[in-house]
Amino acid sequence: MSIDEPLDVPTVDPIERLRERRSAKWRTHPADVLPLTVAETDFNLARPIRAVLDRALDLSDVGYGVAEPELGRALADFAGRRWDWTIDPGSVAVATDVSTAVVHVLRLFVRPGDSVVISPPVYAPFPGWVREVDARLVEAPLRYDEADGWRLDLDALEAAFAGRPAAYLLCNPHNPVGRVHSPEELAALVELAARYDVTVVSDEIHAPLVLPGAQFTPLLTVPGAADLAVSLHSASKAWNLAGLKCAAIVAGSDRMRAALDELPADLRWRIGHFGVIATVAAYTDGGPWLDLLLADLDARRSQLATLLRDNLPSVNWHPPEATFLAWLDCQALGDPSPQEQFLSHGVALEPGASFGAGGERHVRLNFGTSATILEEALTRMAHAAK
Ligand SMILES: Cc1ncc(COP(=O)(O)O)c(C=O)c1O
Repeated sequence: MSIDEPLDVPTVDPIERLRERRSAKWRTHPADVLPLTVAETDFNLARPIRAVLDRALDLSDVGYGVAEPELGRALADFAGRRWDWTIDPGSVAVATDVSTAVVHVLRLFVRPGDSVVISPPVYAPFPGWVREVDARLVEAPLRYDEADGWRLDLDALEAAFAGRPAAYLLCNPHNPVGRVHSPEELAALVELAARYDVTVVSDEIHAPLVLPGAQFTPLLTVPGAADLAVSLHSASKAWNLAGLKCAAIVAGSDRMRAALDELPADLRWRIGHFGVIATVAAYTDGGPWLDLLLADLDARRSQLATLLRDNLPSVNWHPPEATFLAWLDCQALGDPSPQEQFLSHGVALEPGASFGAGGERHVRLNFGTSATILEEALTRMAHAAK
């Protein structure tokens, strides 16, 4: 960047312009509703991403994409710089998105009728992915502690693993509670998985979004994990590229590399071309923008804390360590469906119950937006709660 080039700052457009977006988030509700729902942010594209997409449009470069070898190299460089995680670029397979990747990876390890463990409350489609591979769902719910919030419950995991499931679907960082699992927890998980011969599929889509105060541990860096786990990554959450369709599946051992060789050969053709070029630009040149985004999200998290304290003091929450998602316990409001209560006052939130056991009477609020929109949303929510 030259000295006189303005800084590439994440910005959010005024609401009138956001409403012109045609993504699902902006088309699901009437114009007078603020959608703090689907996990995409309202931030404008980082400049390096915008540049490659503009150039592709300029060239009418809209054919089929090819991810190799750039995607693996870009992710490996990014992971090395950010997390001190060494990835062999040749051990990175590509998939349309993380959802598709999870289903394909589960198919490699799970036979119909086997069971797969998840830890609710968790990203709502997890149970559907397990059903999609004709597996039985087993739950090892997160444990809640008033002082510490939501964490993996290692006892519940051991009880579930003792039933010899084929796989555990980990969410790290965990959506919706925003927990970044600690190295100790992950080491204990790996030890259990090794003891009971369980494959771990680690959904790390939110990894670049770990906020100040926490540190991400890639599962495959935990001793022993590489032999029994694969990790899924995508630039789609941090750089807001969900509609462009590109994700990466990472193996860290010969065993897992051999397993990934069994993925359908034409999976690589099902990616989005714009997804690949945008993702490579994000991992390669999107670091400075991401750092500014994380500072913004940190500020938004503090703003939310203040707004909740002042406007909705009975709502209980533990500020997330990662993501732009806040998991709000609305039990004290006394309404069995708080999302309906807030929607009637013009704020759409994700209903907690859709994240499974433990989510009742919660809502998930997406604070990946401007300070102005967040403030307006909380003002409306305070009226709803009166
Ligand atoms: C934990 C988690 N996994 C997967 C997804 C979906 O990812 P994709 O759009 O790449 O399928 C999301 C989206 O919010 C998510 O939060």
